[in-house]
Amino acid sequence: MINIPRPGRSALPVLDMVPPTRPSAPRSPDAPADVRLGEYLPESAALPSFHIWTLGCQMNHSDSEEMAGRLLDAGCAEASSMDTAGLIVVNTCAIREGAEQKVIGRQGQLARLKTANPGLRVVLTGCSVREAERAGLKRRYPAVDLFLRPDEEPELVDRLGLTSAQGAITAITAITAIGSVGRTGVLGRTPIGVADALPGTRARAVTGGTVARGSAVSAWLPIIYGCDKTCTYCIVPFSRGPERSRPFDEIVDEARALAAAGYREVTLLGQNVNSYGHDLAPEARFGHIRTERWAGRQLDLGSRPDLAELIRAIDGIRTADGVPAIPRLRFVTSHPWDLSDRLIDAMRDCPSVVEHLHLPVQTGDDAVLRRMGRQYTIEHYQERLTRIREAVPGITVSTDVIVGFCGETKDQFQATLRLLEAVRYDQVFAAAYSPRPGTASSRLADDVSPDVKRRRLNELLALQEGIGALRNEAWLGRTVEVLLEKAVPPRSHEHDPADAPDRDSNERPDVAGVHLTGRTRGHKLVHVTGEAALIGRLVDVRIEHAGPYALRGTLAPA
Ligand code: SAH
Ligand code: SF4
Ligand code: F3S
Repeated sequence: MINIPRPGRSALPVLDMVPPTRPSAPRSPDAPADVRLGEYLPESAALPSFHIWTLGCQMNHSDSEEMAGRLLDAGCAEASSMDTAGLIVVNTCAIREGAEQKVIGRQGQLARLKTANPGLRVVLTGCSVREAERAGLKRRYPAVDLFLRPDEEPELVDRLGLTSAQGAITAITAITAIGSVGRTGVLGRTPIGVADALPGTRARAVTGGTVARGSAVSAWLPIIYGCDKTCTYCIVPFSRGPERSRPFDEIVDEARALAAAGYREVTLLGQNVNSYGHDLAPEARFGHIRTERWAGRQLDLGSRPDLAELIRAIDGIRTADGVPAIPRLRFVTSHPWDLSDRLIDAMRDCPSVVEHLHLPVQTGDDAVLRRMGRQYTIEHYQERLTRIREAVPGITVSTDVIVGFCGETKDQFQATLRLLEAVRYDQVFAAAYSPRPGTASSRLADDVSPDVKRRRLNELLALQEGIGALRNEAWLGRTVEVLLEKAVPPRSHEHDPADAPDRDSNERPDVAGVHLTGRTRGHKLVHVTGEAALIGRLVDVRIEHAGPYALRGTLAPA
């Protein structure tokens, strides 16, 4: 890697892409007469084909769509696999040590690929690239040529030296963006990247049509970047910086464009979507959003938009028949402390908002919640759930749980099991506590042994398996709307026979098609046999089998 500051442009280091080993293709006939401009023209042989390996949450997947779009726009093609790519972008997750180990463990493979193809370049971005740890990154990830924090991702194409291929105007636009991207601030005493340029770069990507969406049916729509919470175990604020809301109208415009493009489902994304809008400027049109009170808490929203206002606006995008143009509207993730009555009312009133809520609880014990810095109590959490269940009957609820947090006693763990029994979640994402560098809890003793963590995790998962099965059995015999998402290879669900696709169906002459999976509005996974052409369609399915993690049924006659 050669770091050359480009004179007269930005002082940012540029990753030098090695020139093509074979002779470059002849210039196209429309090459400019002025030879000095010739150097700006893309030469297809010089542009690497790329592969993006994305780990982690929906936000990372959404970010990868933006990066892929920028690379495609610069003229790069997508490689069919990592092995054939000239550029590998690894979009990392740092939520637990195990997530980081997955990438550290692939350094040898990446190094081998580089030996076989000396022109190969590897970029590492996402939550493992934290400002405070920049100095040690090259040691942890020796096969990587360029590190970009999540808020530096818009610089990708420019830092690879690929924008010059696009001609002067694009290059100038990119330089303007670069000037405002990548600013740093501090969280406590830790240097972090601040995400303040991301709303602007997203808007440019959307208006420029360069977001390479992975699905033509279901779209991610980021509404707020970063996180202002101080959950003591969590690395996200160090990786993604403070909260930055996207402007209200830009989000609604993006949703309108998605509706026009035929998307059936939109998921609004943020680490805490419930705090959307607090950092935006007050506006007279939001004057009705003033002081808000819920569960004994009062917050002055001061004429700023909130998530409730946003989902009402997106739900208000209607077809000529007056039905929501986007049939399914989801949002993740909701922090229980910020879940307002206004939001619950909007969920009740908006027909497109699905009957599902992901509401991470983390633990069933108040003392552990306090140590985790989660702000709410179990009483507050349950009060919110009761209100939501009253407002949206039949709503499905999922959660996240951490077992074995610092100082978690046997009794405190039992309180979590009791909470699971009381709430009866549809789905629980549970993991053992993993201390993360720089977080507040990394200074507490990680005193629950790995063995005890594993046992507690298994016990919790076994309990939830029974609850999940019972929750799913309630759907037997009912006909539900399913958004079909993809065809799955037969036997891919071998590990869970109860959840397996209908293996016999291919042998039954009356059922034609392939194994398809989709989701109900309540986010239940459904297996069904049908024509691949149905992918992307909302269909009615009669549920005939229920396992702990999925449902299986047959297509109801149209
Ligand atoms: N912003 C969301 C999601 C954060 S990350 C929220 O507040 O819920 C997703 C989940 O990872 C968290 O809900 C938590 O359950 C888990 N998690 C975060 N940090 C962790 C850690 N250090 N060890 C184990 N699990 C962790
Ligand atoms: Fe992490 Fe807490 Fe923010 Fe979620 S709300 S991203 S757990 S700090
Ligand atoms: Fe992982 Fe970062 Fe998401 S740490 S869970 S990719 S916000």
